[in-house]
Order: sequence, then structure tokens, then C-alpha cells
Amino acid sequence: MASILLGASTSLFTSDDLSLVTSLIAHGQTHLFDGWSSSSLSENDSSSSSSSSNKLSLMAQLRVLDDAYPGGLVAYITNAQRLLSESRLGTNPLEGYTPSVPSGEALPWGSEKFEQFEERGFQHAASGKVAFVLVAGGLGERLGYSGIKVKLPYDTAREAAFLQLYCEHIAAYTSSYATTSTSASPKKTKHKTTSPFAIMTSDDTHAQTLNLLERNEYFGLGRDNITLVKQEKVACLADNDAKLALEDNNRWSVQTKPHGHGDVHMLMHSSGLLDEWERRGIEHVVFFQDTNALVFRAVPAAIGVSLANDFEVNSLAVPRRAKEAIGAITRLTPAQGSKNRAMTINVEYNQLDPLLRASGGAFKDGDMNDKNTGYSPFPGNINQLVFRLAEYRRTLQRTHGVIAEFINPKYTDGTKTAFKKPTRLECMMQDYPKSLGPEAKVGFTTITPNLAAYSPVKNSVAEAQAKFAKGDPTHSATSGELDVYASHCAALRLVGCSVGSPMSVTFLGMERLALPPRISFAPSFAPSLGHLRSKLPAPRQVAISARSSFVLEGHCENVILESLELDGALHISVHHPRCRLVIRCGLVQNAGWHWTPLEELEGAETSTSPVTEEEAMRGFRVHRTETARYEFFHGGRYVLE
Ligand code: UTP
Repeated sequence: MASILLGASTSLFTSDDLSLVTSLIAHGQTHLFDGWSSSSLSENDSSSSSSSSNKLSLMAQLRVLDDAYPGGLVAYITNAQRLLSESRLGTNPLEGYTPSVPSGEALPWGSEKFEQFEERGFQHAASGKVAFVLVAGGLGERLGYSGIKVKLPYDTAREAAFLQLYCEHIAAYTSSYATTSTSASPKKTKHKTTSPFAIMTSDDTHAQTLNLLERNEYFGLGRDNITLVKQEKVACLADNDAKLALEDNNRWSVQTKPHGHGDVHMLMHSSGLLDEWERRGIEHVVFFQDTNALVFRAVPAAIGVSLANDFEVNSLAVPRRAKEAIGAITRLTPAQGSKNRAMTINVEYNQLDPLLRASGGAFKDGDMNDKNTGYSPFPGNINQLVFRLAEYRRTLQRTHGVIAEFINPKYTDGTKTAFKKPTRLECMMQDYPKSLGPEAKVGFTTITPNLAAYSPVKNSVAEAQAKFAKGDPTHSATSGELDVYASHCAALRLVGCSVGSPMSVTFLGMERLALPPRISFAPSFAPSLGHLRSKLPAPRQVAISARSSFVLEGHCENVILESLELDGALHISVHHPRCRLVIRCGLVQNAGWHWTPLEELEGAETSTSPVTEEEAMRGFRVHRTETARYEFFHGGRYVLE
């Protein structure tokens, strides 16, 4: 069939190419090869954008797309045709399911129960039984940052990138840390173990991620310990028949778009990483996303919950208000006699209300808050997941990591016959439980408040302002940074320190934002709440005023904060891993640092020092007027008095 259409071009291609062409023609893709019957590479076509764009380049791209998708392009097109038909007919994938609240733990941050789970989970990770996976292939279009998202500093006090923070957290498990939450001094394990870390990138983020790691010596985690796996994009579809869409300005190239973070499962399988991790004795895998600086506050407790409940899949969750635009972790039970399976899964917020109403019974009024708690009984999904490796690996061997896909075409009108622009299949990592049997133990861990787990940086200034006007969380660079400080302040208060109340500020026109004391500690100081307790033997002797800034960074494993009265800015850097430092300060007072709204900057200042992209995203500039600055370069015992 291929040779009839390709005519004299046939000789340009290998037999494998020709069999791919034959399959594509059989699946409605004849348009790709229109006008190919002559032997030349690109004749009769003036739209070619360069001499390297021609029949050969298109064929090479088709082969890449064919190789990257399980079952090849034919499987992709067949799946797309089925999903497009369901979309046109308005099929409801949740039809017939009865929703209920799944099993899980709700843990107030700092409660005894929280710290018990945290300690258990931390010890598990510290003994080398946990691997970490960051999905960082997203374009970040909503944020609109010119670099990759993980390169963005998560706060301005430390100015460390998100990726540095994640590596530091993983290194903290890796280091000789192991402590009981209430012991007065951290107890050390005898051996050092290294937690493996995989990062999923895409063509949009790969080179920059690698470059960031290389330039920073893998942030202390070691090159051998970090593996980058790259997801490929998938072909766009031009119409309801799933015809592959060619670029508008280049008929020798198929339009492609990201397939979604669900690709991570396929890559975990195909990369062989899971086999290697199992050989190394890894028992759990933690998945997290690119710009949530708070996630590791909750990770140890979530691992502890997984262990205690024997969860095969555990979704880290936050309390969810009824109708809030955040997915809900839901148990779905099919009607008796249905061929569908029961599962615990994320249900998108716009699907939850109709599903609950249709089910009648206790939820007949739809997505409502519980009268006692003031929250929806369904936990809010934040897409940070803990999987048990053994079952995960077995499932992927069966499914090859293929995740249930969906399609979201934007139609030109109600007839649903044409799209506004080409669409594509997508998949989400949280849909993995759809691959499991009804007996799989899938649960959740909700940590309250959000400050203990979740404050993503996703939205541009304009989107943040619009969300702010509606009273919704802004999930912006501004809120992400303020929440880092708020979370540190809350942790210090939980263990008994005195910390000043936030000041009320206006950034980017968003009024009455809470600017807490700017406290930012490297994870090596206290990677868990239990460690923070052990690092502050006399918390009542630590007082930090509202206008203060306090940064503690570097190798802080052996730093003890005994006493401090801070009213200004204190910045301590420990450069040597065997530096033992006791902070035993009286009053540290100076002019400190100021978070100045951009609107208040003088013209003279901005002409010599223009507003940076990062400042513009946050709405302020930090003026470091006066700082008590201490750096420790050598091993030994020191007391800062
Ligand atoms: P987001 O929902 O934030 O999407 O992804 P995004 O693509 O990064 O940003 P927008 O929508 O363009 O603004 C959640 C997580 O999933 C990763 C992101 O990097 C982020 O950590 N992701 C997303 C991938 O790894 N691959 C994808 O194809 C999409």
C-alpha cells in the first residue's frame, strides 16, 4: 500500500519505514503522504521552512513518535479515535459509580500522631529504603518564567533554587541523620546511605535541568545518584478522525505537545530504574512536583502512614473546601454486575458535585462541607504520591506504564465537528490507581494546615491578581515565598519559640498580605519537626521579632540553636560538614532587611538597578540594609555568643 502512494519516493525509505507508512495509511493518515509520488525530497511544496525539512525529516519524526508511544503510532491513533468519539457523545466515564470517602489519615501538623508517623517515615528513608521522583517536564506556561521552574529561587532570603532545596532534602535523608523526635540530641546511624533521585524532564526542560545540576555539582547529591529521564511529546490531532496535524508553516513536521506527567510511569518502567532500585533495597517511591517548597515537610509523615497502613498507593492531600478547584481523592464503587472495578482515585472538582448528587444517599446535596470540620469530607489532591515499589514494579511490568488517557478538545461550536486548534492525548500520574485491582490498598494522608505541605508556584502575576480578587489561593511566586517563611515561623512556634506576628503588606496590588519574619533554614538543619525539637533544647530562649530575617544554610547538621533574641537580620553559613556550632546569642539587633514593594522603589534606583524578572514576579525588592553575618569554613567546635 505504501509503494502505491509513495511512487518513486519508495526507494528513499527502508522497509521499516514503508511498513510504518502502510499502517498509518490503514489508520486514516493518507494526508501525511499527499504529493509524495515523485522521487524528489520535497518538490511541489514551497512551505518547507528549510532544506532539512523534507520527506526524510518527516519520516524520521514519525519513527520517533512511533517508538516513544507504547504500541506505536497506530495505538496512539486508535486510542485517540475512541476517546474523541466518547468526547463527542459526551460519555461520562464516572457513570454508574458510587462515591465514598476512602481510608486514610488526617494529621494535624505537630500533633503527637503526626510526629510518630514522621519519625517512622524519616527512619525508613534514612535507612535507604526510599527513592524520589520529581516530575519536571512541564512547560510552566501559566507561570511564564523565562527559565525552567526548578531554577527559580523559592525565596529571596536564601535565594536557593527549588531544585537545590529538593536535593538538600534528599541529602538530609542520605546523611547520617536518624533521630527520635524527642531526644535532646540527634542520634546518628552507623552507615551512610544514598537515596536515589530521578527527574523527569522534557525537550522543554532537559538541557536547562542538566545544566543547572552540572553547574552546581549536583547540589551535593552526586552525579551517580541523580538520573534524568526525558519524556517525548505526542502528536497533535487535527479532527475527530484523529488525523495527525501538520505544522501550519511546515508540512514536513507533525505538531507535537506534551503528553502530561503520567508519562513518568512509562519512563520508570522503560528506563529499568525500578529494577535497579529494587535490587538496592528500595521499598517506597515518592513522587513530587516542580515548585512546591513545602512538600518535604509532609513527606516523612506520609511515608510513615504508608508503612503503618500497608498502603500500596498513598496520596498526600490537603483539606479541601467544598467546590474548591482542586481534585478530590474518592473511592468509586461500580454498580453490581458492572465490568468496571472499584478504585480510589482523584476526581476532578467539576466532576465531583454531579457524581455526588447522582449517587443520592449521604451525598445527595452534592459537594458540601462537613458541618463539624468545615471542609469537604473528600481530601484535596496535591499530586504528591508515595508508592510501594514491589507492587508498582509488578503493575508496570503488566501495563508497561501505560496510564489511562484523556482528551480535551476545544470545539468550534456545539456540533462538536471541528476543533479550535489541534488537540492531543494526555495522561496524569495520579491516574495510576486505575491500573490496579479492586483489592489494592490505596489511601491518603491529609496534613493540616496547608502550610505543612502545599504552596505551589504556578501562576503569573495577572492570574494571581485575578485569583486574589476572588478570594482564592494565588499559587504564585509571591504566595510561594511568603508561605516558606510562614511555614518556618509556624514550625518554630510549634516547638515553643516566640516568633513575631506577620506584618500587613501590599505587593502587586494585592492588599493585606501577611509578611511573616523572613526565616529560611536549609533542610540540613532540621529536615523534620522532630529534628527541629532536637536542635532547640531550650526553645523558650529563642525569640524572633516581626521585622527580623534569619537565614541558616550550608552544612547545618551539627548546628544547635540554644538561645537567640533576634531583632534585625542574621545570616549564618556553615561551609564544613564537621563544623559543630552552638548558637548561644543574647540580643542581635540591627537595621535588618526590608521587603520593599516595587511601586515604592525610587526611579534613580531602578535606572541603575533595573527590576529583575524574579522581583517582578514577586512584587518586591529586598534591601539588605544591615546584617549580622557569620560564616564557618572549617571543621571544629564553635560557639556563637
Ligand atoms: P502543571 O500542572 O504545573 O503543568 O504540572 P505545567 O505544564 O508545568 O505548567 P502549565 O500548565 O504550562 O502552566 C504539574 C507537574 O507536572 C510536571 C510539571 O513540571 C509539574 O511538576 N509535568 C507536567 C511534566 O513533568 N510533564 C508534563 O507533560 C506536564
